[in-house]
Amino acid sequence: MFPYQTARDIDVRGKTVLMRVDYNVPQNDDDSIADDFRITASLPTIQYLIEHGAKIVLISHLGRPDGQVQEKFSLAPVAVNLSEKLGQKVKFVPDCVSGVVSVATKNLMAGDVVLLENLRFHAEEEKNDRNFAEKLAKDSHANLFIEDGFGVVHRAHASTAAITEFLPSVAGFLIEKEYIELKSATDNPARPLTAVLGGAKISDKVPLVQKFIEIADNVIIGGAMANNFLKYLGHDVGESLVEPDIDDVIKQVLDTAHAKFGDAFNEKFLLPIDVAVAEHGSADEKRTEMSIDAVHDKMKILDVGSQTIDRIDEIIKNSATVIWNGTLGMAEKPEFAYGSAQLATVLAKYPKITSIIGGGDTADFVRNWDAGGGDSFTHVSTGGGASLEFMTDGTLPGIAVLRRRTNL
Ligand code: 3PG
Repeated sequence: MFPYQTARDIDVRGKTVLMRVDYNVPQNDDDSIADDFRITASLPTIQYLIEHGAKIVLISHLGRPDGQVQEKFSLAPVAVNLSEKLGQKVKFVPDCVSGVVSVATKNLMAGDVVLLENLRFHAEEEKNDRNFAEKLAKDSHANLFIEDGFGVVHRAHASTAAITEFLPSVAGFLIEKEYIELKSATDNPARPLTAVLGGAKISDKVPLVQKFIEIADNVIIGGAMANNFLKYLGHDVGESLVEPDIDDVIKQVLDTAHAKFGDAFNEKFLLPIDVAVAEHGSADEKRTEMSIDAVHDKMKILDVGSQTIDRIDEIIKNSATVIWNGTLGMAEKPEFAYGSAQLATVLAKYPKITSIIGGGDTADFVRNWDAGGGDSFTHVSTGGGASLEFMTDGTLPGIAVLRRRTNL
């Protein structure tokens, strides 16, 4: 059950709704939109508001312009993309506060949609500045705030946190969906629950790894993250990517895993048993597979090997829920994407398995891999940092400030 009020709980007809979305989309070299997954994810709430006669003022950030106006980070191309998706003109306003906003939003008609320029062109946004939040509310003539940028609600910024002091604030349908899917997978999963953790670094995911050891029935470690474990356990990892000063962290994680899994440690806490390397250390080389004891010299571990992939397959096929965060190798290189591709294939092939894909690189990988753009999985999160923090902490600053339901 979602404990916060949503757009459905409010009569939105005739209201001017200020809606926070996350249109922080990947960009091509020419600044065009490389991937509009997050724009598509915002449509259900916008369409609902249009159908129910609201006037919609969208606000977002793009990139990290650090309080400066930078053309590269203008949201103007997003307004064009969104207009095409909605089949109606989305008016773009070249600032997010001040007179230009006040004029553009004053005489909106029911169903109109406008998109304001990048919030982070103003330094006050990231400072969670109250005055700036008040201006966002006033200048847009809003009388309701809807939070729907799941990807950014781990930030307490003016447009995600302080704004809720000035307007009644409820959730949009993307926040609701992300909350329900991620929460039920971590708090009330069909079991066995398997957590697959990869990606480059472990240092920024330690609380998540610890949490998954606590709640999951199996934990699979891959990606460059696994190199740190292999090195700690005495294996030569050649010139593979490892983090400095990480031994204490690895020891702590292994201690937690031993305490949880006991005699079943080797079975339930899977580290690579073989690997795929670039023999001379370049990611453009071909894949060479070997046992973890054969790695040496200039070699770089860039993927899990076939025996490990078989073992992962077995664990996954016997799981009821799989939460996957972080690719198992250097998945942007086809030679080193075998582990991640096989995992995606097995998850797609067994629709009975509830598959939750954490955002960021893992979401990008599965959506490119899957002809359905991610439809083969139960849920592909739009949040990178947000989904990690939400699965770790169970709440986020931009969600905790919303109106709670009273009828629970
Ligand atoms: C993201 O892409 O993770 C969000 O849009 C947040 O962006 P940020 O990390 O720049 O705050």
